Amino acid sequence: MQIPFHKTHTTDEEINAVVGAMKSGWLTMGPKTLEFEKAFKAFIGSSEAISVNSATAALHLALKAVGIKRSDEVIVPTNTFVATAEVVTYFDAVPVLCDIEEDTHNIDVKKIEALITEKTKAIMPVHFGGQACDMDEIYAIAKKYNLKVIEDAAHAMPSSYKGVKIGNLKGTDVTCFSFYATKTLSTGEGGMATTNNEIYAKSMRINRLHGISRDAWDRYTTKGAWYYEIVDNGCKYNTTDINSAIGLVQLKKQEILCKKRANIAQKYTTAFKNNNNITLPFVKEDRETSWHLYVIKIDNRDSVIEQLKEAGVGCSVHFIPIHKHPYYKERYHYKNEDYPVANAVFEQSLSLPIYPDMSDEEVAFVIEKVQEIVG
Ligand SMILES: Cc1ncc(COP(=O)(O)O)c(C=O)c1O
Repeated sequence: MQIPFHKTHTTDEEINAVVGAMKSGWLTMGPKTLEFEKAFKAFIGSSEAISVNSATAALHLALKAVGIKRSDEVIVPTNTFVATAEVVTYFDAVPVLCDIEEDTHNIDVKKIEALITEKTKAIMPVHFGGQACDMDEIYAIAKKYNLKVIEDAAHAMPSSYKGVKIGNLKGTDVTCFSFYATKTLSTGEGGMATTNNEIYAKSMRINRLHGISRDAWDRYTTKGAWYYEIVDNGCKYNTTDINSAIGLVQLKKQEILCKKRANIAQKYTTAFKNNNNITLPFVKEDRETSWHLYVIKIDNRDSVIEQLKEAGVGCSVHFIPIHKHPYYKERYHYKNEDYPVANAVFEQSLSLPIYPDMSDEEVAFVIEKVQEIVG
């Protein structure tokens, strides 16, 4: 048996939606994208949803909307994909890295305050694997130091914190989702920013399409006028109706797909809970994870990955911490010893396959091979 680390959930429904979008003749951003935004904000509960072509684009637009400028500092966990730190560099601002918690692998809120200077402008928590960070503690710090909060929710669809869906937490300025191929809602490439702030929403809408003012764009598209105005130095971050058509189909299935991942997680946890060589993922009581990732910790991680690969099980590692990447290390002089928990977690972390279309036999096969190899 061969089990890849990830397989996308693509059914005839998604395929027919793409065909429908193509037959409509409107390939780029148009009516399907507006429909997707409307459905997405209804699902999340936010007043605004702005569709873009990646979470990276959403994070960039969010930082621009809240006014990040050159030399500002933005606090980011070191245990994340490079995009979270990269968007800060677009402004010639500085990503200030924070260590993580040993159990959840999320930003350690107890270590944030020590990193704050007069240049600090924002905190970007990342909901690792789908589990929300300690948002109330983050809001308390943000309030005390007058900081913006941009959530990197690339993994958190659908997730909730204290009963509220990620994407609609009141203390947050903007939340950014990813629809990349491996994500829980996947359109191939894509992203969404949600906010309850009209001014931020307007800025993100304008800047996702070259800084063309929406009013002018509306006149251009609906009234046939040729006139438009550039009111900001925007980007080309719009999505297409083909992607949005897939998104609409996948959005409807989010709860079901999430349940399927939760079942797989439950099976892994039941199977491994008495294995002393495995540290299981830990989810805090007051939040629900999307189960985007199922990360165990083990000794000799690299060798276990190799052996699992030979046995037919694809695995991955989330993440190589930002402070270890040459570009970031050299440009910002991060010191390895400032991130002891992230370093230890990185050495041991292994992400097992977890996706809705895994059969019971495939899950059982992964369990059997992990038990065999880890001992
Ligand atoms: C935590 C995190 N943030 C941001 C991103 C970027 O997402 P996208 O590929 O949609 O730009 C990813 C993608 O893997 C991610 O894992």
